Amino acid sequence: MTFKEKLRQSAEKHGSKVILALDFSDPYDARLAKAEKVLDATKGEIAGVKVNHHLILPYGLTGLSTVIGICRAERLPLIADLKMNDIEATNINIVDSLTAYGFDAVIANPFVGREEGLGKAVERIHANQGGIIFLVYMSHKGADEGYHLRLEDGEPIYRVFATRAREWGADGVIVSAKATNKIAEIRGIVGDSCLILTPGVGAQGGEASDSLGAGADYVIVGRSLTGSSDPLKAVRALNSS
Ligand code: XMP
Repeated sequence: MTFKEKLRQSAEKHGSKVILALDFSDPYDARLAKAEKVLDATKGEIAGVKVNHHLILPYGLTGLSTVIGICRAERLPLIADLKMNDIEATNINIVDSLTAYGFDAVIANPFVGREEGLGKAVERIHANQGGIIFLVYMSHKGADEGYHLRLEDGEPIYRVFATRAREWGADGVIVSAKATNKIAEIRGIVGDSCLILTPGVGAQGGEASDSLGAGADYVIVGRSLTGSSDPLKAVRALNSS
């Protein structure tokens, strides 16, 4: 089964379009227990899970075996938000490590290029039954400083990245939840070939309903869930928004 199919099945089973970003800024040795607690509370009502450097740096892939185990038991697709951006040999090494440890997908930066960059990493993660998601338009305030840069022919780079996602076979693209006009524009480029995943909801000011209403497939939500005193209630509020 492809990553897109796994995510769709999980979303339907759990009645949710929310991908939980397990981000914590607590003391390093306290983060894993908190992540397990939030994941346990919400696992029946989310579509998928994303982990970032907050957990991967202090614990490594081996140290995340409990989180990976919960995701596997609940059939929740697990995404590594590494914003992968290296040469081919390293990218393939990253992809193989992630799939060996039970991750389903990785986020990558298409800036690095196809040849000896991401091209074979896309093929490898697909061969490993996983998925790859390209950064196309980020959600922070300074995103315009990079993603609005134009090529010599005048095309802004986010449109080039969206075209790369479609042409290189990416499973999904990351687009800011707050840039609803960009979500619609990028859908026009990627069509049905890529899922649109949108971070920037809650702590960064975006609304899940606006992003989904503009055509996003999923919202990625971190601090407004991981910092909530009742993460399940917070997920339910998003699911019904
Ligand atoms: P919050 O706490 O803001 O966390 O809900 C969002 C999560 O998603 C990551 N993030 C992004 N990841 N492109 C990405 O690939 C983005 O534009 C983007 N904005 C936020 C963030 O690092 C955190 O894990």
